[in-house]
Amino acid sequence: MSNQTVYLNGEYLPLEEARVPVLDRGFIFGDGIYEVVPVYAGVPFRWRHHLARLKRSLAKVGIVNPHDDAGWDHILSEVMRRHDWPDQFVYIQVTRGVARRDHAFPAGVTPTVFAMASELVLPPESARAQGISIITAPDERWLHCDIKSISLLGNVLARQAAVEAGASECVMFRDGFLTEGSASNLWVVRDARLLGAPRDHLILEGIRYGLMEELAQECGIPFELRRIAREEVFAADELLLSSATKEVMPVTTIDGGPVGSGKPGPVWSKIYAAYRRATGRDAPVAG
Ligand code: PDD
Repeated sequence: MSNQTVYLNGEYLPLEEARVPVLDRGFIFGDGIYEVVPVYAGVPFRWRHHLARLKRSLAKVGIVNPHDDAGWDHILSEVMRRHDWPDQFVYIQVTRGVARRDHAFPAGVTPTVFAMASELVLPPESARAQGISIITAPDERWLHCDIKSISLLGNVLARQAAVEAGASECVMFRDGFLTEGSASNLWVVRDARLLGAPRDHLILEGIRYGLMEELAQECGIPFELRRIAREEVFAADELLLSSATKEVMPVTTIDGGPVGSGKPGPVWSKIYAAYRRATGRDAPVAG
């Protein structure tokens, strides 16, 4: 037994008892969207941003938002408070609902809403000290990567390729330009500048996207979003990876070769320290 209590369509129940009909369009078509919200010491981090992205994803796939903001706040706090892990992440999924199998949107269905809290187990200190390794692959996903869709087969295959290669993440390129990782965004440091791929339909704009810009500003690191050629990624001084559950990690190996010095670099150290402060785990820097 997991001892997890989850939310499903208005009810709070043990994870093992939560059931969805097989005709749910999430199961049949991958027709739904999701969010992953980190929680530190019982406080959701950037929840307003996650909620805004959830609403954008719903609107982009034409699912009527089943709750107002207060309703979402309530679900989030209820699933959180039922567990005593101080640091958690809350997974929220909304599918179009249950209907006879037909591709087009069914009329009059109620979306399925599921929310689950899990313990947030961050990467170990050793992974930050050494840095992680990534592989690269062509980005073979669809062209609406800006939607946080539960249709994740392309991402699943990319991550599996990384696992089989003994790496932590697979970073993808489309037409020779960087897009993102299978479940993370990638950042490139060149000449002491922090670079990221443009906010467009080819990537999921992480909630850490805006945050990285703020942290870079706080640390006095020039920040720029633009198309980044594959060669620039391989010639980077540092590579950083960000996501809700990995925070900001240094990448020290790419396709088996070293990134820059082969060690976590100074830009990562500054940004990571600023991330810890932003999540309330270290005192803010005076001044
Ligand atoms: N993934 N790009 C993709 C494809 C992602 O799946 C994620 C997050 C990100 C980073 O977004 P954020 O900073 O909001 O976590 C970028 C989550 C963690 C997941 O699927 O588990």
